[in-house]
Amino acid sequence: MALPGSCPAAGGSSVCGRPDKGIRMAEKAEIAIDRISMVYTLPDSEVHALNDVSLDIGKGEILSVLGPSGCGKTTLLNIIAGFLSPTRGEVRIAGTPVKGPGAERGMVFQQGALFEWLSVAQNISFGPRMCGRNRKETVDTVQRLLGIVGLVEFADKPVYQLSGGMQQRVALARCLANDPDVILMDEPLGALDALTREKMQGLVLRLWKETGKTILLITHSVEEAIFLGERLIVMAPRPGRIEREFNLPFATEALEKPARDVKAGSEFVSVREEILSMIWDMEEEIMGDNG
Ligand SMILES: Nc1ncnc2c1ncn2[C@@H]1O[C@H](COP(=O)(O)OP(=O)(O)OP(=O)(O)O)[C@@H](O)[C@H]1O
Ligand SMILES: [Mg+2]
Repeated sequence: MALPGSCPAAGGSSVCGRPDKGIRMAEKAEIAIDRISMVYTLPDSEVHALNDVSLDIGKGEILSVLGPSGCGKTTLLNIIAGFLSPTRGEVRIAGTPVKGPGAERGMVFQQGALFEWLSVAQNISFGPRMCGRNRKETVDTVQRLLGIVGLVEFADKPVYQLSGGMQQRVALARCLANDPDVILMDEPLGALDALTREKMQGLVLRLWKETGKTILLITHSVEEAIFLGERLIVMAPRPGRIEREFNLPFATEALEKPARDVKAGSEFVSVREEILSMIWDMEEEIMGDNG
């Protein structure tokens, strides 16, 4: 069944408006991914992690990326973050080519990226303090962010005393404290239990709405990708490429309606089933190749 807003790929690249490069037309791309290829060179072989990936992400957009393990999601994110240089192609942030990490891009990792021996407040204020920001302003920012992520009473607690969900809230707040234009998330909720994960999804949506940040989120959860992505990219492996693109209404709907109602809706369920079977087929193919 053809889904509303879905754009099937042709010839391996996503096609949504521009058949030659697979780029969504955005008025002004906050993130322009322009024909990126990435080959890892090992002593005895090469890994073609990404092949000719192009994508524009508009300012204030929330985009989720889904795909089987090894299809190049983290590689793509690391290239956007400036941690890796692509073998070919270029990423531009607000028109400026990425040459390395920059303060306008914030990262939230799956876990383990906090300073465990520092307090919650010290973790959140770390970036502004390193940049030499005004002390009073930093205190105010930390207080505001503690309120947003619901950790006001935990400001002075060391991070290691917090639960996984609380730690991820600190990670979000720490990222926001640097006031990046773009937030890059690699499986930020992957280590959480199901209930905490759902609550955190709501928090991500609220932050998106309230801050107007551009958010790119990688997840292994089909449900999460559909729920949080205004736009959803499905990647395929060998070599990593964009297979399909969906424009979805659920992130916006969830700003108005309870998350459970949105996820139980017939359109949500039908998109979920289609994407699940697409990913399942890809995984089967990979297993078949290996078997
Ligand atoms: N530093 C590296 N050196 C060599 N090969 C690498 C390196 N990093 C990743 N790869 C390979 O590149 C491909 C893409 O890896 P990547 O980590 O981007 O995938 P992924 O989609 O994030 O996977 P996962 O869902 O498991 O996190 C894989 O085949 C992986 O083995
Ligand atoms: Mg990964």
